[in-house]
Amino acid sequence: MIRHLLSGADLDPATATLILDTAAEMATVAGREVKKLPALRGRTVVNLFYEDSTRTRISFEAAAKRLSADVINFTVKGSSVSKGESLKDTALTLQAMGADAVVIRHPAAGAPHRLANWVDGSVINAGDGTHEHPTQALLDAYTMRARLGRIDGLHVAIVGDVLHSRVARSNMLLLTTLGAKVTLVGPPTLIPIQADHALAPGIEVSYDLDAVLPESDVVMMLRVQRERMAASYFPSAREYTRRYGMDGPRMARLPEHAIVMHPGPINRGMEIMPAVADSPRSTIVEQVTNGVSVRMAVLYLLLGGK
Ligand code: NCD
Repeated sequence: MIRHLLSGADLDPATATLILDTAAEMATVAGREVKKLPALRGRTVVNLFYEDSTRTRISFEAAAKRLSADVINFTVKGSSVSKGESLKDTALTLQAMGADAVVIRHPAAGAPHRLANWVDGSVINAGDGTHEHPTQALLDAYTMRARLGRIDGLHVAIVGDVLHSRVARSNMLLLTTLGAKVTLVGPPTLIPIQADHALAPGIEVSYDLDAVLPESDVVMMLRVQRERMAASYFPSAREYTRRYGMDGPRMARLPEHAIVMHPGPINRGMEIMPAVADSPRSTIVEQVTNGVSVRMAVLYLLLGGK
């Protein structure tokens, strides 16, 4: 088993499949009255969040607690980070407290990789800048497998602000590893320039959402990340929605079995309309539920569970 989970590229097919299978077993715990396993009793998991988060932080906390680990939630506000303490010194403090796993979200790409050199425990990347978010890719893969029965051979369209999306990058890596075909769809300004060549084999690019929909098994909508945009990447929100927003008529162009995903938080009315987000084809809420099982599996396996 790998010691850290920093990137979608850390997951080979066997490791990814083991995590997804373990997550399916963990999901049975969620259906019980007492949602707890003793697997990580006496182990310490630190949640180190330098960036805002609702779903991911709560999900890791719930996952660690369901495995009976001791959980320390470290938020930057109110900590010595606001006094200027460096990531390295914070890491050494966590190390001194005997953290078995550190879950880190940080605005700088590569921060989790640096942290992994400074602590003895496992490091899990919960999002580093615009770079990667591997547990989100795993929970997305889990959701596809649960809804559609497989990942191999699926055609997945990843739509919208690919440029700023760590979710898209980790998904591209994991989904192609598991045999899916990926098409990135969005305005040219929001698709990374090297996407059609160097990124990974099995990845295509299209600027025409309506053309891609009829051949998609999965449409993964991405949030337009205005907080990461220093310049303007499209003429107006209305224009963006007209070309790349997922609405009822577009949903009707999908094959009957196709699903619509979104990692959340959603911009209702911008990249996804309420008629789609709240429809039975939408997996938005399931993705959140599955996230806990997947993170339980990751914590359990990284910390040496059998
Ligand atoms: C994403 C993130 O933070 O990278 N959200 C999440 O983890 N569920 C996507 C986003 O912020 O748009």
